[in-house]
Amino acid sequence: MKYYSIIIVLALMSCSHSKVSTNKDTVEERFIDSILATMSIDDKIGQTNLRGTSSRAKTLSEELKEDVRQGKVGALLNVMKVEFVDELQKIAVEESPNKIPLIFGRDVIHGFKTIFPIPLGLAASWDTDIAKSSSRIAAIEASSVGIRWTFAPMLDIARDSRWGRIAESPGEDTYLASVLGKAYIQGFQGDSLNNPTSIAACAKHYIGYGAVEGGRDYNTTVIPEPLLRNVYLPPFQSALDVGAATVMTSFNEINGIPATGNEFLLKHVLRDELKFDGFVVSDWDSVIEMIAHGYAKDEKQAGELAANAGMDMEMTSKAYEHHLKDLIKEDKVKERQLDEFVKNILRIKLRLGLFEKPYRDKNNEANFYKEAHLAEAKEAAIKSAVLLKNKRILPLSSATKVALIGPLANAPLDQMGTWTFDGEKEHTVTPLKAFKEAQVNFKYVEALTHSRDRSKEQFQKAVDGVKDSDVIVFVAGEEAILSGEAHSRATIDLPGAQEDLIKVLSKTGKPIVLVIMAGRPITITNIIDNVDAVLMSWHPGTMGGVALQEIIYGLREPEGRLPVSWPKKAGQLPYFYNHKSTGRPANKEDYVAMYDIPVGAWQSSLGNDSHYLDIGYTPHFPFGFGLGYTAFKYDDLQISKDTIGFNETLLVKASITNVGERPGKEIVQLYTQDVVGSITRPVRELKGFQHINLNVGETKEVTFKVFPRQLEFTNHKGIRATEEGDFNIWVSSDATSGLKGTFYLKKECQ
Ligand code: GLC
Repeated sequence: MKYYSIIIVLALMSCSHSKVSTNKDTVEERFIDSILATMSIDDKIGQTNLRGTSSRAKTLSEELKEDVRQGKVGALLNVMKVEFVDELQKIAVEESPNKIPLIFGRDVIHGFKTIFPIPLGLAASWDTDIAKSSSRIAAIEASSVGIRWTFAPMLDIARDSRWGRIAESPGEDTYLASVLGKAYIQGFQGDSLNNPTSIAACAKHYIGYGAVEGGRDYNTTVIPEPLLRNVYLPPFQSALDVGAATVMTSFNEINGIPATGNEFLLKHVLRDELKFDGFVVSDWDSVIEMIAHGYAKDEKQAGELAANAGMDMEMTSKAYEHHLKDLIKEDKVKERQLDEFVKNILRIKLRLGLFEKPYRDKNNEANFYKEAHLAEAKEAAIKSAVLLKNKRILPLSSATKVALIGPLANAPLDQMGTWTFDGEKEHTVTPLKAFKEAQVNFKYVEALTHSRDRSKEQFQKAVDGVKDSDVIVFVAGEEAILSGEAHSRATIDLPGAQEDLIKVLSKTGKPIVLVIMAGRPITITNIIDNVDAVLMSWHPGTMGGVALQEIIYGLREPEGRLPVSWPKKAGQLPYFYNHKSTGRPANKEDYVAMYDIPVGAWQSSLGNDSHYLDIGYTPHFPFGFGLGYTAFKYDDLQISKDTIGFNETLLVKASITNVGERPGKEIVQLYTQDVVGSITRPVRELKGFQHINLNVGETKEVTFKVFPRQLEFTNHKGIRATEEGDFNIWVSSDATSGLKGTFYLKKECQ
């Protein structure tokens, strides 16, 4: 490593971590070029190879070691024994042709050992501090075992709760996803990427993965360019603005072209427009999946299409390893394209400090499950929990006799949710464990062994078991395996016999507090009238049980707000608050519920607008919604001007008063609507939010600044601009209510 050291120090001093380095003459670039100049074409192809391994491997294969020794591997994923990490890195750095260090990657999605709520739950916190702290802690824990690259954050806008991966998403809103995405990147990558506890982030899945047809994973997406630029691209742009080191292509095709072979997206948008200078990695086998897509006839053509599209590093499949050399010989791929791949990869390895310090930092000892980490995980679970209903039953007093029941009441593995490979269920504090530790007055009633349990054999025992209690706390939901990748569901109600048991228990007359642990909104239309409170905890992670116990007994209030619309039925999906108006917007004047329609009604006697006869046209609970343990009044909306110019700033104020009986937190939301545009515009768009805490009776004036640039959009001609005209604006507690005002945006005379 001797000859690297001087150059490295200079390069690291020069290279910019937080913003894109566009100056190609920097020492960083000269350092990279100096390595590239020594590399054979085989060495270069080796760097583009991300080799998959099994995290459960008991031994290190000689073949893998030899491949590393020959420089055939640039990065590895799922190497989870530190001795393997150290051995492989030593081989790479001391024996391979160019002594280039490896990057070790892992899916560190919502925690490493200390598991935080699933990302959809973290999104419900609307809290960038929590997003940043959770990913910072994950990076500290993961880097201690040699992981320096995570395949997170997932920034896919998700509007369909049937899609299993909504669990990993930031929800349905572009603005919320953008601000959270930035925070995740900053947490993972720290102040400087070459800090030993920093890990390279990976903005994924680029792009439009959440728009899969029918919510079926890996499926087709059709995304017109204005929709791509107005909804799906901004979170990636925000991630790159704060220096996201890598980007992962998505499995789906977009308008007929798979993301992994999509030159428009990978070169024109990502490189030319967004000036991305990190590297692009494919998803697992997504290069060769272009064969199944019907876009490549064989592995070789898949490699050619991916390479010419500008896809730098191939995850797990070997199209580049097998064919890139021939493709270059046949002039189907230019060697300068391969050089670009290698430079992008070396640039991130340099920024990670791997040339200078390729080995694990032995001082960065495993900080797994530190008290501070667990405390932050509990905080995250409290801030993520969303109270959807509360008929004056919560919070409970400690004297209340509680019957704790339900398949998720003591499910330490499932409570962690999807993508928790390294979290250990032994550390999970379930509600049962937390109730015991808190020594509250409760009895645990076992019924339904897991979420899909369809047996009713224990029902009578359950009814008997709750007899002498005052309140039933029913922890329902879905097992972790029913959520996440490849786990889409056509119906999204409570699986198994959970609904039946809730209905049987409601006949006892005991109030029921329904707690839901799931990776998606669960349709509860069938049982909402059988329960007195509904608390959504998502899959809340290691400390979820403690968070729930503190919320249920009022030590804390649930602080979350929905990051995704909560449907009444799967049949109304995809549903999202920022939908278009349509030519016949649904409204309550026109809507007649299906069973209220007179028999023999004349064909045109009903309201002709966009609703369902059976369930109407609204979600069960709207985006942004969430109750606390107090109440807030919004009034005195003030808008600084009726008309503003394109270079002016609008001030929007409202007074929020705590009119309840407890101090509480509110997340005040700002929405706008561009009433008329050169293309139709959403009925509402989130443009800002603020967390405020109010004591009983306290009033706070909340002020938002609205900059015309925030109102810009891309139209059908590819023109991105803010347009003159009327705007509606709301200061609100969710996406369907609030204080409404208007203003006119006037183009100044040039
Ligand atoms: C998976 C996922 C991706 C993940 C990768 C590595 O299939 O789509 O999000 O990072 O493979 O595990």
